[in-house]
Amino acid sequence: MNDLFLQALKGENKEKRPPIWLMRQAGRYMASYQALRAKHSFLGLCKTPDLIAQVTLLPIAEFGFDAAIVFSDILLIAEAMGLDLRFEEGKGPILGPCLKDKSSLETLYNRQILSELSFVFEGIKLLKKSLKVPLIGFSGAPFTVASYMIEGQSNRELLKTKEWLFHDPDSFHELLDLIADYTIEYINAQIDAGVDAIQLFDSWAHVLAARQFEEFSLRYMKKIISKMKKCPVIVFCRGSSIFYESLASLKPDCISLDWQSDVKTVRKKIAGISLQGNLDPDILLQDTKIVEREARAILKAMKDDPGYIFNLGHGILPKTPIANVHALVACVKQG
Ligand code: CP3
Repeated sequence: MNDLFLQALKGENKEKRPPIWLMRQAGRYMASYQALRAKHSFLGLCKTPDLIAQVTLLPIAEFGFDAAIVFSDILLIAEAMGLDLRFEEGKGPILGPCLKDKSSLETLYNRQILSELSFVFEGIKLLKKSLKVPLIGFSGAPFTVASYMIEGQSNRELLKTKEWLFHDPDSFHELLDLIADYTIEYINAQIDAGVDAIQLFDSWAHVLAARQFEEFSLRYMKKIISKMKKCPVIVFCRGSSIFYESLASLKPDCISLDWQSDVKTVRKKIAGISLQGNLDPDILLQDTKIVEREARAILKAMKDDPGYIFNLGHGILPKTPIANVHALVACVKQG
């Protein structure tokens, strides 16, 4: 077992190079993924344990990443809570009927989410039989999952979400708390099934002002971390370059940084917590020389840091050339 990733999560990496994996590493930029997608819908892949295992392994086999992430999606939990979920070509996720106010919360109670999501746990068990690198399980954080349940799709401004949050904070808290409780159940079942680490994705937290971030995002990540079974946890949010000191107050094992901050500057302020990130995913769309130059700058800044994990600042983009991913991994593996 290659446990470089777990060593770095503990802040105990003694090798000459950091571990590397990439958010969304199993996806459309890979021809092998496209070939499977030609035969199955995205949700079909997510809901079939054999296919979950197969897709999760694609980028490990092709690039030799140091960690695998379970092939799934943060919105499956919303479906398990009773919403309809579709993925439309070119449009992304569509959820409905959208939550509107306190009266929409009734139907969300007493859901058996674990039986609805059993394919995830079966996929994890299959993967654990053959995987030679650690396996990361994940969930969306409550604020981001709530925003999708309210907006019904990806939306840059989250105006409906903000309107609810400002006009009826009590029922908005009720929603977040409910999602947090289901998330704890979901994460604990992934841990029982065998994942080696958990990453929480609060992808939309960057739309919040600092006061609202503390009240509506951070508070629920804190609840989840305090109630989940013992397992290393990574917190990611877009906005982490601004909010990292708040995130550090959660005492996670690792903070995943978006690309706006200089990771070395953050390291000077944050001790005892591992850092992950934070190459701008757009850099992988440029000439290979630029990819290598920018990757080396981060590697040099974090050289010999025992708690550093190389990653992007957000998910890898579908148009990323495969050759650049190979070059990036080669760069990181040279140290
Ligand atoms: O990282 C991995 O390889 C594991 C799989 C993974 C997916 N989604 C697969 C996926 C993970 C960890 C996610 C998380 C996720 N999903 C987030 C949080 C991370 C982030 O990017 O901010 C969010 C916000 C979602 C919701 C979601 N799923 C959107 C907005 C979209 C459409 C945009 C897009 O990239 O297509 C998806 C679809 C999705 N999730 C795909 C994949 C591989 C593409 C589906 C396809 O094959 O058509």
